[in-house]
Amino acid sequence: MPKIAVIGLGFMGRVHLRNYALLPNAKVAALYDVRPEAMNPNCPETAGNIAAGGVTFDLASVPHFTDYEKMLAAGGFDVVDICLPTYLHAEYAVRALDAGYHVFCEKPLAMTNSETRQIVDAVKKTGNHFGVGHCLRYWPAYREVKRLIDGGRFGCVRYAEFARFSLPPIWGWDGWLMDSRRSGGAALDLHVHDVDMVLHLFGMPQAVRSRGVREKDGGFSHITTLYKYPDLDVTSTGGWLCTASFGFDMRAFFVLEKATIEIDFAKSPIVMIYPQEGEKYPLDLPAGDGYYYELKDFTDNLETGEFENLVTAESAAETIRLALLEIESAHQEKELRV
Ligand SMILES: NC(=O)c1ccc[n+]([C@@H]2O[C@H](COP(=O)([O-])OP(=O)(O)OC[C@H]3O[C@@H](n4cnc5c(N)ncnc54)[C@H](O)[C@@H]3O)[C@@H](O)[C@H]2O)c1
Repeated sequence: MPKIAVIGLGFMGRVHLRNYALLPNAKVAALYDVRPEAMNPNCPETAGNIAAGGVTFDLASVPHFTDYEKMLAAGGFDVVDICLPTYLHAEYAVRALDAGYHVFCEKPLAMTNSETRQIVDAVKKTGNHFGVGHCLRYWPAYREVKRLIDGGRFGCVRYAEFARFSLPPIWGWDGWLMDSRRSGGAALDLHVHDVDMVLHLFGMPQAVRSRGVREKDGGFSHITTLYKYPDLDVTSTGGWLCTASFGFDMRAFFVLEKATIEIDFAKSPIVMIYPQEGEKYPLDLPAGDGYYYELKDFTDNLETGEFENLVTAESAAETIRLALLEIESAHQEKELRV
């Protein structure tokens, strides 16, 4: 059974801990954070016993570290699961790979193309497994709609649009999310989910044309992109300028030759199919979310290396390349070829 060191115990670190509690084939064996209180079993944020779906595990019995080198040297685990702020991903991923560990890294893979190259090179050099948390590829609504599209029953996609709306993430440690030099702004941190889904479904476009809402630090808190393909139109919009009373929503809309398909997490059912022939109907979805399925795939298949849907470092690097090009297009206010 793979043993996991979870590093960064903020919002996402706790989401991962809750999912490891549900996975019978994974064991949390080390914790690392600069804030000792984030790993304090009595901290209400972290909770002494992580409970999820009727499973509970006791954090107090897991070794805690506030020094990364010491954790890497102490060992006792197979995987380093990186849930640190994005500007730290490249450095911490390369150090874990070089120390001989497999790595699961939260999205976005890194801040720049040069950082993603460092990670890709380290993965190639060490031969260790590396997965990226592009959770939408595993999220039942998106995964099942991709299956329907790829199955071809409703013909080709003529038009697709993606949307992601959030309140400002003021909850991040040290305000890092609201600082575009450390997070990439909403255009990288939030919108990257849909950039990855565009690539996963349709491959690399020929060109992008983006516009955005620019903040004082030069980052974009909202971005809208038109992706140019020879035979279909794709758009995507996302940002974190919404009010707290709105909260969060993610949506996608597909116009195929013989059906219209809508994903909207604010609606129930989440996925509705509107076929050319017959009545609309909801798509049945398996229970669970993308966080659970991505960590299950990684930990269940680590030994064989035969993953179901692994998001590789190379693939996530292409997602960053496209997202950064969109940001550049918004800055230059012109279409840029990929
Ligand atoms: N897949 C998703 O849907 C999703 C959702 C939210 C966040 N994320 C990603 O997860 C990552 C973490 O985001 P978050 O929202 O959990 O941030 P957060 O601010 O809630 O947590 C970051 C944690 O890292 C710790 N930390 C900071 N610097 C450190 C260092 N040098 N060494 C050790 N610990 C350090 C902080 O103490 C904090 O506990 C980001 O890359 C973010 O983009 C992904």
